[in-house]
Amino acid sequence: MSKSVGVVGGGQLARMMIPAAVNLGLDIRVLAENEGDPARLAVTAIGSHLSVEDLLRFGKDVDVLTFDHEHVPQAVLRELVAQGVNVQPGPDALQFAQNKLSMRRRLAELGVPIPDWAGVDTVDELAAFLADHGGAGVLKTATGGYDGKGVRVVRDAADAADWFEAANGETLLVEELVDFRRELAQLVARRPSGEIAYWPVVESLQRDGVCAEVIAPAPNSAGRIADVAADIATTVAESLGVTGVLAVELFETTDDRLLVNELAMRPHNTGHWSIDGSTTSQFEQHLRAVLDLPLGATGCRDDWSVMVNVLGGPLEGSITDRYDVACAEQPTVKFHFYEKAPRPGRKVGHVTSGGDDLDDAVYRARAAAAFFDN
Ligand SMILES: Nc1ncnc2c1ncn2[C@@H]1O[C@H](COP(=O)(O)OP(=O)(O)OP(=O)(O)O)[C@@H](O)[C@H]1O
Ligand SMILES: [Mg+2]
Repeated sequence: MSKSVGVVGGGQLARMMIPAAVNLGLDIRVLAENEGDPARLAVTAIGSHLSVEDLLRFGKDVDVLTFDHEHVPQAVLRELVAQGVNVQPGPDALQFAQNKLSMRRRLAELGVPIPDWAGVDTVDELAAFLADHGGAGVLKTATGGYDGKGVRVVRDAADAADWFEAANGETLLVEELVDFRRELAQLVARRPSGEIAYWPVVESLQRDGVCAEVIAPAPNSAGRIADVAADIATTVAESLGVTGVLAVELFETTDDRLLVNELAMRPHNTGHWSIDGSTTSQFEQHLRAVLDLPLGATGCRDDWSVMVNVLGGPLEGSITDRYDVACAEQPTVKFHFYEKAPRPGRKVGHVTSGGDDLDDAVYRARAAAAFFDN
């Protein structure tokens, strides 16, 4: 009998696990909030990720329960484990992807390089931190942020008074404003029994707090940068007991250090290139890892892979209206759409190009994505 995987959440990450599951002969089932969610082809239950009952009904007879997002509360996760559900990654690991303060505290204990940070409860505490850090900082909500929401650069503590009010007693995180040359991401996968595999470190370009483009591997990273990034991610995966895919977002500072920005314990936007560009995609690897199956090779199929997000989508007409011309003009580019309604800034798809000439691969991916703008 084929092994079964239950995925909580029906977004694009769950969607992209489906072809990998089909190829591996797995029985993939998705718990979604709406029937029309991107992973609709594998949706077997409609329910809430906040409801113990919905999750138990969905998760009680799958071999492993895993996630499209990190929003299942700790208390719910722990109840599922207590009821015998095989939850991967488990709550002890996931807490550090759910709460940025817990993450900073734990990484500091481990001696992993991170920006200077503090937990702050008042404007005065924030002002004191800013004064110690050149007058600027990045204020973050500990929970609930994504795509740059819940992240704000502050130069005057008084400007953040509204955030302390809205925080309702929840401590905020402040970090030094890191002077970075670029952002990198290191993805690894780990099985419960310990095997680890990592892809090459990639460069990610963020626009307005949202991932816009990824180059794999990161240019000029061979040697020290690649080694340090892999070492950091391996340490984090092992020390926190992460299973499945772990994404470690990194800053490469202007003085050549690598600092951890944040952690995600699931497939990540900076790993989408691996569908077309690696022997084993992050989605296949996530499924193998959470099921404790042997991991696949993570080498690159091309010298360079370039992934460009389709953000927002066309203001007029639909994505499908534009396929013909986009596919005809860029036959070497791989198109991935999530069947989400276009909305400004929303991640509705991505494209990937590969080849031995980086400039050419960048050009082709950008040109292909541009067919779906505006
Ligand atoms: N301490 C910092 N110094 C400088 N820039 C920062 C800092 N922290 C975050 N940023 C910038 O803000 C972006 C978003 O921050 P972060 O990754 O913490 O937020 P997020 O909304 O949880 O992101 P994601 O979309 O990855 O879930 C980062 O990718 C980076 O460009
Ligand atoms: Mg981030």
